[in-house]
Amino acid sequence: MTANPLAPGWLVHPDDANALAPTVWPRNAVRDAAGGIRLAGATATALVAEFGTPLYVVDEADARDRASELKVAFDEAFGAIGSSVKVYYAGKAFLSTEIARWVTSAGLNIDVCSGGELAVALAAGVDPGRLGFHGNNKSLAEIDRGVGVGVGAIVLDSVVEIERVAAAAARHGRVQPVRLRINSGVHASTHEFLATAHEDQKFGVPLADAPAIVDQIRTHASLRFLGLHSHIGSQIFESDGFAEAARRLLTVHAELLAGGEVPELNLGGGFGIAYTSADVVTPIETIARELARVVASECAALGIPVPDIAVEPGRSIIGPSTVTLYEVGTIKDVTVSVDGGQTAIRRYVSVDGGMSDNIRAALYQADYSVRLANRSSDATPALVRIAGKHCESGDIVVRADYLPGDVEPGDIVSVPATGAYCWSLASNYNYLGRPAVVAVRDGFARLLVRGETEADLLSRDAGIAPTEKATT
Ligand SMILES: Cc1ncc(COP(=O)(O)O)c(C=O)c1O
Repeated sequence: MTANPLAPGWLVHPDDANALAPTVWPRNAVRDAAGGIRLAGATATALVAEFGTPLYVVDEADARDRASELKVAFDEAFGAIGSSVKVYYAGKAFLSTEIARWVTSAGLNIDVCSGGELAVALAAGVDPGRLGFHGNNKSLAEIDRGVGVGVGAIVLDSVVEIERVAAAAARHGRVQPVRLRINSGVHASTHEFLATAHEDQKFGVPLADAPAIVDQIRTHASLRFLGLHSHIGSQIFESDGFAEAARRLLTVHAELLAGGEVPELNLGGGFGIAYTSADVVTPIETIARELARVVASECAALGIPVPDIAVEPGRSIIGPSTVTLYEVGTIKDVTVSVDGGQTAIRRYVSVDGGMSDNIRAALYQADYSVRLANRSSDATPALVRIAGKHCESGDIVVRADYLPGDVEPGDIVSVPATGAYCWSLASNYNYLGRPAVVAVRDGFARLLVRGETEADLLSRDAGIAPTEKATT
């Protein structure tokens, strides 16, 4: 079989285009005897018959287990160096009241970064003391609500927020614990990390300014300084970037101890997951142990006690748990010029969703995988591109993968690893309703969030009479 020259270098021509790579698919996804995909005991075909397409399907046990396993890995690694860890689930990855309850029942806290995320966590009944509140431009109303309900920590992102949070805390008669977000100059993306003196980005304050800013925080009786915070990026596979950021922050952390307590250090999130079988993920236990080793040795070198640690993973908990199911609508073979005056065929398989339910391929050139979900097939694999239905040529969900060559309109395809930053970044572009989210467990499916209807889409349009809205 000659490879299609349009296939990217990392994409291996599969022996079996029906196989589900275990690193990429939810733990309870299998191809059953009838050939279709079964997710935690529920067939893709039955899920689609009940809930329609596009549909986000979350393997509940997978998500809950990953939350617990990550907590255990960090507890063990940092317990071994005499420290403890607070794990915050980064709600921006994917938050609903159910998901908030899953992660808190696994012992995690939750990080929110807007009034809306805060509202979801509170609606889930999460103890506000277990919430961290982020954001580079929190409104006064958001700060007031966060402080008023008693969030456990607010991450100050700029000097101007010191007065704002201190005033809100004084108003509510509280002492508000705060962290200070640092722009560490370390930026990591997948396998690479870049360390500069100053990173050109909007978050945090320069490390060199931290001592003066912390002095300012400490002048407020209504604030309690917890420690420094850094988040160096997302979808990171190696621990070196985290280790470098920890080293840089600990040097200043040690300096700050001269002026008062600094009980914590927050190292952020960003642990990578596999989107394709080419992604090789470092086990979370390895990352946790390596970070603990670096923190212990830096603290020993600086002659300071090991602080309590906080981390904020989102993607690594929820990302691998979820697949999106789509129905294939149209298929088109496009002849493309390649080097040497040759041509090759790219098969565009268009589905009934797209960049409105998964913007990551368009936004970050992210790669995803795809498999037939309603059946399997022995047909020769064909290189495909899964396109959405939006009026945008960049509306791609899967840039390149192989599907059985007999894929046809009406087939159901499944894209794995869509748990993080898909639903949470979903839009109504072209007036598509955002899809439903269901959780599957032990063969049963239940709705976490219903899909939007045409009535939802029209409900905010002030030019439509209420009676007309009700009938749509
Ligand atoms: C401050 C902060 N913490 C945590 C996260 C979570 O990152 P991830 O989902 O990659 O673990 C993010 C993501 O952007 C972030 O900005």
